[in-house]
Amino acid sequence: MIQVEDVSFRAMKHIDLPYVLSNESAAYSHPWTQGNFRTSLNGADYCCLVLVDQRAVGHGILSSGAGDAHVLNLCVHPEQQGAGLGRKLLNHLLAQAAGRKVNSVFLEVRASNTAAITLYDTTGFNEIGRRRNYYPVDVGREDAIVMAKELF
Ligand SMILES: CC(C)(COP(=O)(O)OP(=O)(O)OC[C@H]1O[C@@H](n2cnc3c(N)ncnc32)[C@H](O)[C@@H]1OP(=O)(O)O)[C@@H](O)C(=O)NCCC(=O)NCCS
Repeated sequence: MIQVEDVSFRAMKHIDLPYVLSNESAAYSHPWTQGNFRTSLNGADYCCLVLVDQRAVGHGILSSGAGDAHVLNLCVHPEQQGAGLGRKLLNHLLAQAAGRKVNSVFLEVRASNTAAITLYDTTGFNEIGRRRNYYPVDVGREDAIVMAKELF
């Protein structure tokens, strides 16, 4: 298991995509596509990070504009989860948002995603709404919880 002190962050590059897609597929039931990541990498208002040890073990994507930011993706490979990496990655994204002088950070999370909701709760995010039947599941759909955190 990787130690949280040993990981660092750097900007995601197109060359990272094989590792990023591998981590994404391992961690999510409905992973982003390569096209989703390419759109983020090519967008001016996106902050795309990888969490690296020997190689990329996680990634985070933040978009910002008009005074707000959105955490669009937060992912740690399942073999490395539970060691503090997700919290470190989220805090780094929030620092990036603060550096862009945004007032509020928003995100959406599956209502069944207890680990992520607990992480967001304990990082100062509050539930501000729900989108009914927003996410696909294997059979049917589930709600998205919309959360927000004020930075300033
Ligand atoms: C959400 C995710 C990024 C968290 O990463 P992680 O490295 O496992 O998280 P950490 O070890 O830093 O734990 C942070 C906090 O999350 C919560 N948490 C983590 N795993 C948990 C679990 N199994 N059950 C309940 N809470 C949990 C705890 O509050 C924990 O803080 P603590 O260790 O101080 O108690 C990771 O589980 C993941 O990649 N999941 C799949 C992708 C995903 O769902 N992303 C979020 C989309 S909105």
